[in-house]
Amino acid sequence: MSSCKCVVITVIVLVVIITVIAVVATSLKKLDSDEIGIKYDTIRKILGNTTEREGLYTGLPGFKFIIFPSVYTSLTFNHLESLNKDGVQIVLDITYQYKVRSDKLREVILEFRDKDGYTKILKYEGESAIHETCSHFNTSQFQAERANFQKKVKENIMVRYKKLNAEMTDLQVNNIARPTEYESAIRSKERAREDIRVANNERPRLLTEADTQIREAETQAKIIIDKADSAARILANRALTESQAIIAQYEKEAEAYKKIVEASGLGFTIDGFISYLGVRVIAKATNPVYIGLDSPAKTVYP
Ligand SMILES: *[C@@H]1O[C@H](CO)[C@@H](O)[C@H](O)[C@H]1NC(C)=O
Ligand SMILES: *[C@@H]1O[C@H](CO)[C@@H](O)[C@H](O)[C@H]1NC(C)=O
Repeated sequence: MSSCKCVVITVIVLVVIITVIAVVATSLKKLDSDEIGIKYDTIRKILGNTTEREGLYTGLPGFKFIIFPSVYTSLTFNHLESLNKDGVQIVLDITYQYKVRSDKLREVILEFRDKDGYTKILKYEGESAIHETCSHFNTSQFQAERANFQKKVKENIMVRYKKLNAEMTDLQVNNIARPTEYESAIRSKERAREDIRVANNERPRLLTEADTQIREAETQAKIIIDKADSAARILANRALTESQAIIAQYEKEAEAYKKIVEASGLGFTIDGFISYLGVRVIAKATNPVYIGLDSPAKTVYP
């Protein structure tokens, strides 16, 4: 009988211990060093009114913390496409850090329920601020005023986040990309401009070169013409001299023959003169000549 009592007591003790553990466990909650939160009674649906920081907390059984980060969290937009003032599509990579204002946590929870609901709204507002800022910048400003764009995006997001009880720091614009067709159009324009510049620089040099070539050709032509003129003159002079020499020679010969046949000279007959010429021809001949001739002109006349 006493052993039966014993078992019942043991069971009761165990049940009590388990219940105590369960109650303690559900009424003890911990916040980490990077967390803040507000107690929420899940049974009576009551939200606490103080923001708690790191530590171990007790409360009515069934309470929990609605937890938010107490440190800055990064929000990143990658390849965010946005139209600029000129209607050109710009692709942006932007990162910034934000956190909820701890003194306004209760308001934030009442409005947005929890961290997920809040983050969603912050993301949406951030993106909207980026689009809006983008629409105030034209394409050349994106190139020339990058720092200003970054500043303006940050200011715009800060204004919106202030209304949502969030603090924001450190915005980085990691990339601003224009569409590839736009980039390649810009590049080919730059190349064409460079080509024109090079051609313009080359122009005087090429003109000078061409001028020099023309002058050289002209000089060369003059030299050739002068040479030809001079050669022609020399040839003409030589021909003239030679012809004059030949004429003089024949004149002398004619005079000599005249003396031979003239009555006042040797008074040769025509036959005698021809014989004389024949003898001279034979005398001049280098090879032996065999011919039959009448006896030469008589030297003695009967
Ligand atoms: C804070 O909450 C307690 C109950 O949790 C309530 O009694 C008290 O009136 C609240 N104070 C303010 C200022 O709301
Ligand atoms: C871009 O904006 C700047 C400043 O407002 C202006 O000077 C420039 O002419 C604009 N460029 C174009 C292509 O509209």
